[in-house]
Amino acid sequence: MKGSTSIREILAGEETGKRFVVNGWVRTFRNNQFIALSDGSTIRHLQLVVDREQTDEQLLKRITTGAAISAIGTLVESQGKGQSVELNVEALSVLGDSDPDKYPLQPKRHSLEFLREIAHLRFRTNTFSAIMRVRHALAFAIHKFFHERGFYYIHSPIITSSDAEGAGEMFQVTTLPLENVPKKEDGSVDFKQDFFDRSTNLTVSGQLEAELAALAMTKVYTFGPTFRAENSNTSRHLAEFWMIEPEVAFFDLEDNMDLAEDMLKEIIRFAVENCADDLAFLEQRLVNEEKQKPQHERSPMPLLEKLAFVIENDFERLTYTQAIEILKNSKPNKKKKFSFPVDDWGIDLQSEHERYLVEKHFKKPVILTDYPKEIKSFYMRQNEDGKTVQAMDILFPGIGEIVGGSAREERLALLEKRMEEMGIPAHEMNWFLDTRRFGTCPHAGYGLGFERLVQFVTGMSNIRDVIPFPRTPGNAAF
Ligand code: 4AD
Ligand code: MG
Repeated sequence: MKGSTSIREILAGEETGKRFVVNGWVRTFRNNQFIALSDGSTIRHLQLVVDREQTDEQLLKRITTGAAISAIGTLVESQGKGQSVELNVEALSVLGDSDPDKYPLQPKRHSLEFLREIAHLRFRTNTFSAIMRVRHALAFAIHKFFHERGFYYIHSPIITSSDAEGAGEMFQVTTLPLENVPKKEDGSVDFKQDFFDRSTNLTVSGQLEAELAALAMTKVYTFGPTFRAENSNTSRHLAEFWMIEPEVAFFDLEDNMDLAEDMLKEIIRFAVENCADDLAFLEQRLVNEEKQKPQHERSPMPLLEKLAFVIENDFERLTYTQAIEILKNSKPNKKKKFSFPVDDWGIDLQSEHERYLVEKHFKKPVILTDYPKEIKSFYMRQNEDGKTVQAMDILFPGIGEIVGGSAREERLALLEKRMEEMGIPAHEMNWFLDTRRFGTCPHAGYGLGFERLVQFVTGMSNIRDVIPFPRTPGNAAF
């Protein structure tokens, strides 16, 4: 509103003696005198002091938790504890009433589960608004990181006719009438009558389009929503999540690892430096949450110490084959504590294995490379051994896989052969193969799951609490 100042600015400036207009939502109102006001610009509230003798009784009654108000007053040094400045209110108006008997957010601690049910209101809580501010800072830091290194931001399409991961976990997009789907003579759906003349879906990854751009502009990245129709009801999976996918021409796997490690450290550092209040609050929140847990289930380090540790230490780099050896000989494997025992080379690593490597064995972030080709995507560069591909997964404590990437198979004949083996329809992907026909070159890239990053930085254990409106199996409310 014209002439008003955000609470963040007022508290940062501490310009006592100056008059301010503030707007916000009432958190609490004590003694008919002290309003704790929030406008979401910061975790901190501004204390407004109302002259209860001089204020109309009807107006005082309307100052309730959740009400939107506007006030004018002078900033003074606070008499009370808990804040250094407060606003002596000269005039106040209620812009939007909030019936305290019906408002779902009472001034008390609510469970995260309850807040998910009222996700339309949870922006008004300290926890969720802190997470949203950190999320913003991380998104900004990602653009800053790439911009400063000469990368161009490419907008990959959301509706596509290809399956970038070849895993078939796609949401279909169609305008065909579901109650009367047009069929061809052989009984299959006649997509010629559909909006796009073909079968389409929501993108699972912008990688293939990013590759097209990288093989012309050298350094590019995407940052957009991606969709997976996988039926995983876990604390780390969403059906709609945001992914950052850099793709770089003339990069090999090691360049790719260096870029990913530098990026993670730099954006986490940016959040630490720019979100100090919010992270201090979230650190304390985590301590409170973990009080109910037995010691061995608690985080080994406080939140900020954990972030500093990641920024300051080199990630451990090893191959899948080396990791399998470690896991085979590990205590939990020998004592049959893993739900999925590790006996043969070639198995896909489960989250329990990833977490063992990161949290118990190395106690730091880990980059695993050179996975068996059978458990990775068709586009990954094949190694000379005929068994492995130049994949890289970055595993983080408490999260597991946060980044997945690879060097790409740039050799046309090898790529075509692999696509055929894996049943990827090459004739539909001529546009992709053209990059290998004309001026192909070594290149590499990776995908960072944005919500997993936000989870790591905020210390939230459930991915549903780091995105405004989570989409998971059975849930697309709001
Ligand atoms: O490992 P993924 O499937 O890799 C790709 O999509 C590649 N095209 C990336 C690339 O090389 N350009 O996904 C990348 C990351 C994962 O490491 C994980 O952090 C996140 O995306 N991710 C998910 N996050 C939330 N919910 C899900 N269902 C996710 N699936 C993957
Ligand atoms: Mg992956």
